[in-house]
Amino acid sequence: MSSRTPDGLDVEFCRSQFPEIGNGWAYLDNAGGSYVPSSVVSRMVAFLTESKNQPWRHTAPGKLSGERMDAAHAAIAELINAERDEVILGPSTTANMFTLAQALRPMLQPGDEIIVSQQDHEANRGAWVRLAEFGITIVEWPIDPVTGLLSTEVLQGLLNARTRLVCFTHASNIVAAINPAAEIARMAHGVGAMVVVDGVAYAGHALVDVKALDADFYLFSLYKVYGPHQGVLYASRAALRHTRNQRHFFYDGNFTATRLHPAGNQYESVAASQGVADYFDAVYAHHFGGNEPSLHERAKQVFSLFADQEQALGNALIDGLRALPGVRVLGPQTGDRNVRMPTVAFHVPGRTSKSIAEALGSAKCLAGSGHFYAPHCVAAQGIADVDDGVVRISMLHYNTLAEVQGVLTALRGILG
Ligand SMILES: Cc1ncc(COP(=O)(O)O)c(C=O)c1O
Repeated sequence: MSSRTPDGLDVEFCRSQFPEIGNGWAYLDNAGGSYVPSSVVSRMVAFLTESKNQPWRHTAPGKLSGERMDAAHAAIAELINAERDEVILGPSTTANMFTLAQALRPMLQPGDEIIVSQQDHEANRGAWVRLAEFGITIVEWPIDPVTGLLSTEVLQGLLNARTRLVCFTHASNIVAAINPAAEIARMAHGVGAMVVVDGVAYAGHALVDVKALDADFYLFSLYKVYGPHQGVLYASRAALRHTRNQRHFFYDGNFTATRLHPAGNQYESVAASQGVADYFDAVYAHHFGGNEPSLHERAKQVFSLFADQEQALGNALIDGLRALPGVRVLGPQTGDRNVRMPTVAFHVPGRTSKSIAEALGSAKCLAGSGHFYAPHCVAAQGIADVDDGVVRISMLHYNTLAEVQGVLTALRGILG
């Protein structure tokens, strides 16, 4: 039976696009990496079986592989409303962040300040914190220990004329609240600072529009957005002017984002990234038919269907968790998709998170436990054993209410 409602997401259609769905597991670890649709798999297979050679050579096979990579690169840029030369596909967000920090270091003087948030994954902290050895002052933007939230009022008190960068997450992979990225960018720009936004835990749930955010740098990982293991780094043309070239010397003078990508591409992964756009197009065509002119506009409509489904899942899960004895849900206590993503971390005092996640595994519910590389965020919320951390159930639009009920039933048994 189709789960399609006249104006809702056809969840069964979406699920049918993902070969791994139906393997007997309720996949609830999407914040660790989403499943990939067949479109991504077939593009990767096509690249490796038909065009595995040095791209952009003046031969038919080289042209084919180059065209495939170029098309994927253009699609990802279009998706996030960026110009192609403002985007690179690099190995991962963590690696891209380190390269970016290296590229920005020459513009920083001893005594300059970088604000990093306590809510962030280590990817958007460690690379900046290491700049302290060059005399840069690292300023921590703390979270509220009870709600886990970042406050722009607190940020206002940290910003000053020495602030050069504000590094923060669009949505944390633990707290999952949606931070007001455009407002934060406006505040940072007001004192002449730039922003580095980690969109990794955001981009699988909502459409990124780098221009609307007025982001200077925006990074996310395609493997959490239905794609292969690739990191996307957007750098605005204006922001690129402040970076030092990280490529070979003979590329110096080129002010495109490629200056932030020292190594060669992972060719087949880049080419396969176009399968992400194919997926959005397939969902768009299935629900809307018609023909919106740009991928960004088509994806906008698709993501609004995703949001409705995710909100229903988030509300059901959070309400169910809150009804269980002793469970502390972190972050906003609602599934409202204007407020948070359906990535739900919780803690049960007196029980280890690892044992709960393992017991969920025995019930064929795939969830995770730990600090998820955000130990400062976990510790600041009063969780004493940071390594054991929290249990995290993270959903995407292709999850179902039946899976939520299944995980809640399992938890009732586990927690007694
Ligand atoms: C919020 C967040 N930021 C950054 C990263 C790092 O991304 P990558 O694995 O591409 O380095 C992750 C990965 O889990 C994440 O969840």
